[in-house]
Amino acid sequence: MLKAIYPGSFDPVTYGHLDIIRRSCKIVDELVVGVLNNNAKMPLFSVEERVKMLKEVTKDLNNVAIAPFGGLLVEFARETGAALIIRGLRAITDFEYELQMSQTNHKLEPGVETMFLTTSIEYSYLSSTTVKEIAAFGGDISQFVPEVIGKELKEKMKAKRSV
Ligand code: PNS
Repeated sequence: MLKAIYPGSFDPVTYGHLDIIRRSCKIVDELVVGVLNNNAKMPLFSVEERVKMLKEVTKDLNNVAIAPFGGLLVEFARETGAALIIRGLRAITDFEYELQMSQTNHKLEPGVETMFLTTSIEYSYLSSTTVKEIAAFGGDISQFVPEVIGKELKEKMKAKRSV
């Protein structure tokens, strides 16, 4: 049985992430989406909120589980029993960071491999950071995130403005 981890911040999940999740779960038997719990990254959404949103938008997929993780990714892989890490590659600018991360992880845990899926062309420009920026200025984000995520983002932005 092939079990894989798709790790990330998912702050929030976009159609780009969902594209990688949907394609990955056709390749592997079980996919665990690992949601980084690291407040040093100052996420907009708490890890609980990000896990909940991911569960909502993947509820039609029967071989996907969502779980938070806080320490080293290879530790999480070991705990989960996954021998494969999946990451999406958008443009060449992603490559350097991803190469460094995969080689470091392989040094830390040679039993865990990293596999890259190139992002579908229609999502190659997309990032959670740009989606948050557009939402912060009241722009239309409906082409970038599912409706339920757009709603959560709008509410979060409204709550932030009222602080
Ligand atoms: O969505 P992101 O922010 O690009 O995801 C980055 C992530 C979560 C995959 C990366 O920060 C990570 O694996 N963090 C866990 C800490 C770790 O294992 N670091 C060593 C690998 S270089």
